[in-house]
Amino acid sequence: MESSARNHLNLLFLLLLFFLRRVAAASSPPLFPKQAHPTKSGYLPVNSTSGSAIFYTFYEAQNLTTDVSKVPLLIWLQGGPGCSSMLANFYELGPWRVNFNKHPSDPLALEPNSATWNRIFGLIFLDNPIGTGFSIAANSAEIPRDQHSVAIHLFAAITKFIELDPAFKTRPMYITGESYAGKYVPAIGHYILKRNAELPAGSKGVNLQGVAIGDGLTDPIIQVNTHAVDAFYSGLINEKQRRQLEKLQLEAVGFTAAMNWSAAADARNRVLDTLQDMTGLATLYDYTKNEPYKMSLVDELLSYEAVKVALGAKVEAPFESCSDFVGGILHEDVMKSVKYMVEYLLKESKVLLYQGQYDLRDGIVSTEAWMKTMKWEGIGKFMAADRKVWKVRGEVAGYVQKWGSLSHVVVSGAGHLLPADQPLRAQVMIEDWVLDKGVFKPCCGLRGRASCTC
Ligand SMILES: *[C@@H]1O[C@H](CO)[C@@H](O)[C@H](O)[C@H]1NC(C)=O
Ligand SMILES: *[C@@H]1O[C@H](CO)[C@@H](O)[C@H](O)[C@H]1NC(C)=O
Ligand SMILES: *[C@@H]1O[C@H](CO)[C@@H](O)[C@H](O)[C@H]1NC(C)=O
Repeated sequence: MESSARNHLNLLFLLLLFFLRRVAAASSPPLFPKQAHPTKSGYLPVNSTSGSAIFYTFYEAQNLTTDVSKVPLLIWLQGGPGCSSMLANFYELGPWRVNFNKHPSDPLALEPNSATWNRIFGLIFLDNPIGTGFSIAANSAEIPRDQHSVAIHLFAAITKFIELDPAFKTRPMYITGESYAGKYVPAIGHYILKRNAELPAGSKGVNLQGVAIGDGLTDPIIQVNTHAVDAFYSGLINEKQRRQLEKLQLEAVGFTAAMNWSAAADARNRVLDTLQDMTGLATLYDYTKNEPYKMSLVDELLSYEAVKVALGAKVEAPFESCSDFVGGILHEDVMKSVKYMVEYLLKESKVLLYQGQYDLRDGIVSTEAWMKTMKWEGIGKFMAADRKVWKVRGEVAGYVQKWGSLSHVVVSGAGHLLPADQPLRAQVMIEDWVLDKGVFKPCCGLRGRASCTC
């Protein structure tokens, strides 16, 4: 038996817990102003038999400058695998964001984002794959285990979305996303182009014009092999640590080459965990940060019933910004490459690859390493193109390299969640890239198909 003093302490502890819960329950939910409500939101069925559905929020362009049927639509996909696009919506690039720069004792609130990506474009956030965020997986067997299954579900959801409004069908569409969406974005983009190719000449099921990937994982076998040099030349590890990390990287490469997918994904985790231990950084997502991104604020916001109601999400659904369960189901997909899909996309649409300067997970070095290995007729010209200094409001915003349909952007002063760190630069980048303006303006030739170097 335990001593009575211990029991007494336990009782005190329980009382304290009860009191704290009451305080938490009594504090009023954060303000979700009427203006913050999405234009449309809810569930897009992906399987009529089972009822599985992808949750979406759609925000129409705030400033409809031209005929609405010409206003681009942007789809956003979060990474993880297993993270909700509500993270981008409420932390990165949506019209209203949580006040993540608040003092810990200040209440959670939503603030308008002057650098939102729906200033002049319609913006759609999809919780992908099913089982992620508010999306519904009728059973775990239906949750995708590979990118082909991801694409089939996304295609079903996008087709359903387009049916909501006749004008959506003709609007130019761009698929965007971050991190593990470096797999999803090429997968759905490639799938759309293949489906369009089956249709009679001139008709398009989905009017896809381009894809954009921020800090993406796309060709893991090459990317996993860059962490040691990246950290070493950033001054974060010494020679001995570099050799140790390189050894672990080669294990990940070896398992990948042997198509031992589970062991390969585990080996990649060991690389990243070791790098984390060696550097002692607050986060590998941004080596300048003293603390990790406060993504739990989005979990807190979306735990309130009133907020779920405002978003058209199922009230009984518990919200998790990242699902380990879904992530686990895609474990064997982690080290599989979708580079060939990007190569295909470059022939038929525009491709933008952008990274934050401070990201040590899926950053610049890791992206440039696989980009240059692409089998695409323009790659030589792209590699020979000048890297331009890109300025926004007189400040160096980053660097842009472009040839033909391929654009590469380094964004200064940003980590992995780039639009959270540099909202204005991210907004100028996406708007100018979509509209072929500013630093992306082709100086000769057809849009995105310039046959000369400029
Ligand atoms: C749809 O759901 C049924 C029943 O769970 C399943 O057998 C089928 O594979 C699902 N189809 C897709 C495309 O997920
Ligand atoms: C909307 O766009 C027009 C034309 O680009 C511009 O003059 C106007 O200031 C914009 N309004 C807002 C609220 O952004
Ligand atoms: C994959 O690698 C693990 C770890 O070395 C090993 O135990 C397992 O047998 C391998 N699987 C296959 C199918 O080769």
